[in-house]
Amino acid sequence: MKNKVSLILVVLLALTLMYCGSKKSETPAEDYGTPDESAAPVQAVDVIAQGEALVKASDCKTCHHLTNKLIGPSHTDIAKKYEFTAANVTYLAQKIVEGGTGVWGEIPMSPHADLSQIDAEKMARYVLSLDGEKEH
Ligand code: HEC
Repeated sequence: MKNKVSLILVVLLALTLMYCGSKKSETPAEDYGTPDESAAPVQAVDVIAQGEALVKASDCKTCHHLTNKLIGPSHTDIAKKYEFTAANVTYLAQKIVEGGTGVWGEIPMSPHADLSQIDAEKMARYVLSLDGEKEH
């Protein structure tokens, strides 16, 4: 009798484990959904988040505030001045790497020659996203 009870308990336990196991294995399939629809926007957000991390890790904050003018224009004012286009990403990335003057006043922006073009473009995309505009 005692053996029968423990046998039933073991079977119940095994069934529970199997049920939980099968539930778990269903989850990834549900989470991934349709890849072609979700891939593009997620990647765009990633690039902007990477740009933000790069800007925060660099010396930009010595001269740029998110919303207030310091030595340089605020990054939000820069976003408002430029449309979020591929051409402006390239232009601003080049300006971040090479530095320059004459667009916002006579104070020069220092060059950042150690930055790769790819990282500078991520920073430019982050700055251009600050007024809520999407790349187009
Ligand atoms: C030494 C101060 C200084 C530092 C450091 C600095 N900037 Fe600037 N930045 C400026 C100034 C000044 C201007 C305005 C230049 C002009 O009028 O052409 C400017 C302009 C810009 C512009 C707009 C360029 C244009 O032509 O309109 C962007 C984008 C920018 N900075 C991004 C950055 C980023 C990103 C960093 C960090 C990697 C950075 N800056 C670091 C001073 C600085």
